[in-house]
Amino acid sequence: DKIKIFAPATIANVGPGYDIFGLALENIGDTIEMQWTDKKGIHIHPIDGFPDLPTTAEENIAGIVAIEMLKQQKIKRGLDIRIHKNVMPGSGLGSSGSSAAGAAFALNELLGKPFSQTELIQFAMLGEKATSGKAHADNVAASILGGFTIIKGYEPLQVFNIPFPENLHIAIVHPQIEVKTSDSKKVLKKELGLDAVIKQCGNVAGLVAGMMGNDFTLIGASMNDLIAEPIRSFLIPGYKEAKKLALENGAIGCSISGSGPSIFAFTEGKIKAEEIALLFANFYNNLGIANKVYCSGIN
Ligand code: HSE
Repeated sequence: DKIKIFAPATIANVGPGYDIFGLALENIGDTIEMQWTDKKGIHIHPIDGFPDLPTTAEENIAGIVAIEMLKQQKIKRGLDIRIHKNVMPGSGLGSSGSSAAGAAFALNELLGKPFSQTELIQFAMLGEKATSGKAHADNVAASILGGFTIIKGYEPLQVFNIPFPENLHIAIVHPQIEVKTSDSKKVLKKELGLDAVIKQCGNVAGLVAGMMGNDFTLIGASMNDLIAEPIRSFLIPGYKEAKKLALENGAIGCSISGSGPSIFAFTEGKIKAEEIALLFANFYNNLGIANKVYCSGIN
């Protein structure tokens, strides 16, 4: 009657895969506890970290997801949700997505698993819609399925995992300035010319082939993005220099995590990731911008 789960934070887009690629991080994410209670309604308890988290179920991402799932199952029991949030909302590391995904996954377990994984992703997407205005699935799919995920299509939703190199590691820096997904979705161009579409498709295909074939050179060469990066990079102070620094020091690729402001770099091996994370931290410290760095594998 009680469950505690870990919902990984995620990197969405992963270079050229705007709204279609996602990956789950190791040891970075939310912990969610759920249990039935005799007290009617859904009760949200943020445990630590971020005091601004809404506690009204209708306004809380985990609450929004739970309301819909209980409604579909016609269940009126009281529910306690305790959320330990470890990733700052608005970081670009799928913070809202991990609460939504974690809530969907945990409640499905409590209910005796009536829903499929695809259905859980769809419930979690409701949380994303509430935060960013658009029900993108790249963060929540990666958080629920783990690993490297691809959204093949949204109508109907079709999601799957692909393998990735074991030795692929990630250095992440979160420069602590605020970028809202809803705003940073609005600034993107609605159309792309044919030349750009051709390049983007080539990079998407190259990244998938590189991941599946353990080809670090191909992964690196395929990380360019023509949809989000050219525009969103202007919202992140020091982005171009930070990327250059990572690439000059042996990272195989570097891009914006989700809608930013976090930046991630792929490396071959953990030691290189730690080295790049340190360079990122020094770089932002020198700019006088508070920052947090992480190193991770894909979970
Ligand atoms: N694919 C989404 C976007 C992810 O780039 O807006 C947001 O985290």
